[in-house]
Amino acid sequence: MKEKLNDYNLRFKHSSAEEILNYFLSKYGDKTGLSSSLGAEDQVLTKMIVDIRKETRIFTLDTGRLFPETYDLIDRTNSRYGIKIEVYFPDYREVEELVKKKGVNSFYYSIENRKECCHIRKLSPLARALEGLDVWITGLRREQAVTRKELQVVEWDEKYNILKLNPLINWTEQDVWDYIKQHNIPYNPLHDQSYPSIGCQPCTRAVSAGEDIRSGRWWWENPETKECGLHAKEQ
Ligand code: ADX
Ligand code: SF4
Repeated sequence: MKEKLNDYNLRFKHSSAEEILNYFLSKYGDKTGLSSSLGAEDQVLTKMIVDIRKETRIFTLDTGRLFPETYDLIDRTNSRYGIKIEVYFPDYREVEELVKKKGVNSFYYSIENRKECCHIRKLSPLARALEGLDVWITGLRREQAVTRKELQVVEWDEKYNILKLNPLINWTEQDVWDYIKQHNIPYNPLHDQSYPSIGCQPCTRAVSAGEDIRSGRWWWENPETKECGLHAKEQ
């Protein structure tokens, strides 16, 4: 599949997100899955995917440190669309060991600690969630960060050996919100309280007017290091 990358990117250069999803969901069916953080982009993709192929796997990685609003949104999204978002948890032994060794909030003290926590709470569960899939759909957008500027619609993920599909890669934040309003899509109320990008509660804060949309994520780090490792190529 890796060799088809260039062909795919040429072919879908000017396609809409729905056209891209349509193609991959019909071609790869059960072998396709959306990783959803319940963020605005993922809510757009969830709606599109449900419309095209409702039985498609949609999963979220519950780090154990999410906002209460995010948990509510899992429930609200399931009820709205009549689906069951799969929830993946970290290995309890790894979490217990980490906490015993470094405390509950080790991530504030160094980038290594932060990456270790993300590894245990997100990356290992992601590896389990992607098992058996050929296509991994994400809500990444180029505009989101300096680390995401070069991304293509279709990428090959070396770490997980999987085709990674980013149907919203060219969308602006405005495009996302227009679509959400137009289709009355359920979204995290924190977005209305100056949280444009939402991850784990202790690692996310509100941003001030004019600040970068991801400046509230791991705000104590530089923009160049601010990836949790889910999207490895960007690091
Ligand atoms: S992150 O890597 O910095 O956390 P971001 O919040 O921008 O990423 O989300 C980018 C994409 O990563 C999402 O559209 C989603 O596909 C995936 N993702 C991020 N966090 C999660 C999560 N907790 N569960 C599932 N997918 C996630
Ligand atoms: Fe841990 Fe923070 Fe990463 Fe969540 S975002 S997994 S709490 S370091």
